[in-house]
Amino acid sequence: MGPGDLAKALAGLPLQSHPNLIVGMESAEDAGVYKLTDDLAIVQTVDFFTPIVDDPYDFGRIAAANSLSDVYAMGGSPLTALNVVCFPQDKMEISILQEVLRGGMDKMQEAGVILVGGHSVEDPELKYGLSVTGTIHPDKVVRNNGARAGDRLILTKPLGTGIISTAIKGGTAGEEAVSEIVKSMTALNRTASEMMQEVGVHACTDITGFGLLGHVAEMIEGTEVGMEIDSAAVPIFTDAKGLAEMGMIPGGLHRNREFRKDMVEISRGVPQYLQDILFDPQTSGGLLIAVPHEKAWILLEKLHSEGVAEAAIIGGVVAEIKGKIRVK
Ligand code: CO
Ligand code: CO
Repeated sequence: MGPGDLAKALAGLPLQSHPNLIVGMESAEDAGVYKLTDDLAIVQTVDFFTPIVDDPYDFGRIAAANSLSDVYAMGGSPLTALNVVCFPQDKMEISILQEVLRGGMDKMQEAGVILVGGHSVEDPELKYGLSVTGTIHPDKVVRNNGARAGDRLILTKPLGTGIISTAIKGGTAGEEAVSEIVKSMTALNRTASEMMQEVGVHACTDITGFGLLGHVAEMIEGTEVGMEIDSAAVPIFTDAKGLAEMGMIPGGLHRNREFRKDMVEISRGVPQYLQDILFDPQTSGGLLIAVPHEKAWILLEKLHSEGVAEAAIIGGVVAEIKGKIRVK
């Protein structure tokens, strides 16, 4: 659903509270966190969606990596998962579902996650994802709204998966563009999560459907800070520029921009294709981390040396423009 739609649907529901609830419905967080003991909490999340690439095995890997990401974004370690499957039995071969599930399983194995079950329903459209449970120390939960003035912002994966998958649907994406985004979307955010916990950071979220600026907006909403983004420093996929200029713009991109337009101020010098990419809805995107400025280079070096090669410092947190995002 688009940004804002879900808020309307949830508006009438009572907000529950409980002494053990660390992160609940009240915050726009990636996952819920519930304390079991003084040094152990569980992290829970669920995510599933329709295919965005043609290969069912790749789709399974992407969906699983994407579902696990919300646990990593909070600094947690995923432990177990349940498959969530919607399948059009009448019009699709069961072998396709086998490939999807094999892809999901391979990712879970890579992540050290045990599949403990699942649920499937018949549906006109194939959908797949995971419900994931992980653990974290109650004092080590990394929230999305803890950024402080002076922090630097690190993004760990390039942007442009929405634009390129729109081109895949339109039959205009080249093979290289497809393999580039598949490689990125199947990459776990585990290493980035472990590195940020090792270094110590103030805030984190993963970049998914709301696009970079939509998730930046969530990070500053209700806080005392704003953020500055240096658009030239933002990593993007090689083909995203050309495809954006060709008009391969997903519908969600316009909704993301419309929803956050009052919070975002973009300099005239930022080219249109780049403005589009900054709002492009991502699937299994990277982590966006607010790290104290004196640790920013340490974290960046660690990420690069551990194989998170595209990670880059893309901006910083400032007090002067509270609640606003300035893109230059
Ligand atoms: Co998320
Ligand atoms: Co999610």
